[in-house]
Amino acid sequence: MENVREQRQSTKKHVIIDCDPGIDDSLAIMLALSMEELWVEGITIVCGNSPVEMGFGNAKKVLKQMDRLDIPVFQGEAQPLKREYVNALDTHGEDGLGESFLPEVPGYGQSLDAVSFMSERIRSLSEKGNGCSVIALGPMTNLARLIQRDGEAFSMIDELVSMGGSFRNHGNCSPVAEYNYWADPDAAALVYDTAYRTGREIAMVGLDVTRRIVLTPDLLEYMKRLKPETGRFVQAITKFYYDFHWKWEHLIGCVINDPLAVAYFADRSLCGGIRAYTAVETGGISMGQTVVDSMSFYKKRPNALVLTQVDVRGFFRLFLSRILGIPEEELDLTDQLVRDPAQSTEGTGGRDII
Ligand code: BDR
Ligand code: CA
Repeated sequence: MENVREQRQSTKKHVIIDCDPGIDDSLAIMLALSMEELWVEGITIVCGNSPVEMGFGNAKKVLKQMDRLDIPVFQGEAQPLKREYVNALDTHGEDGLGESFLPEVPGYGQSLDAVSFMSERIRSLSEKGNGCSVIALGPMTNLARLIQRDGEAFSMIDELVSMGGSFRNHGNCSPVAEYNYWADPDAAALVYDTAYRTGREIAMVGLDVTRRIVLTPDLLEYMKRLKPETGRFVQAITKFYYDFHWKWEHLIGCVINDPLAVAYFADRSLCGGIRAYTAVETGGISMGQTVVDSMSFYKKRPNALVLTQVDVRGFFRLFLSRILGIPEEELDLTDQLVRDPAQSTEGTGGRDII
């Protein structure tokens, strides 16, 4: 029996989800746990959308909803490397989970902190020849601490996919900066620089592609029709997000960034992009900006695959089928349900989003 389990485990992609739940982080966790091709080794929490203790509690709430309290969760860094911590509760609600105010889930004594867990698990899987990847959905503080504490383990990470940054798109915290990299620019800069020095490549799932992932009210309604319990849970945690997008962007729908990073990790055909040397600005008015050298001015080896294209319908086909547990061919994702902002200016408050 144990052998069968080991066999199953070894055919899957092993991954640690480093996140700051967070509404869209929670949807990303739901997606990852619904994908049989992934083996989630653990969830590590970093301060970001919500303070780290709150993010830890929110991850447990999502796991309880999924009936997956077997997945370990580890608290990580409570402060960015250098700058003062700025949360995003204005976007995610005062409980960090869309003001759903779900009951706290007890348990999960902390035997290890997030960075120690990463280091231990990456090393042991790598030594066994399985490999361990990281999908980073929050500020990169935990990863930066891993570099500082165990650079060798960082270099053993199989694949590193990061939701963050913006190339041709505008930012969401400043004209040029996206939240995850803006919240801890020194961490993001260290991770990209280390990737450069060690010959690695980060898959940058930035706003260029994630802003096109709009969960429309019709899609939510469709989810509720197909799987009422899951649909109602998604509704409970996204309501605040819908209101936020309406208030600030006059967008009817909400942009769910993080699940795209998980989907892309599992299915490379969903996105395309360019390989380029990329650095992160750490100060001044462009703090947190990703400087993508697409024209190779610096003549430096690419350390990032910067995603610029996404199959929006393909993403939603995968997202819905997995979290609802319904075969893709049974879904009917009409144009009314799936809206790609790149194809129209509707719902963007009249702003040019490219
Ligand atoms: C990113 O910032 C957070 O608000 C989201 O969870 C996502 O990871 C988007 O800029
Ligand atoms: Ca996030």
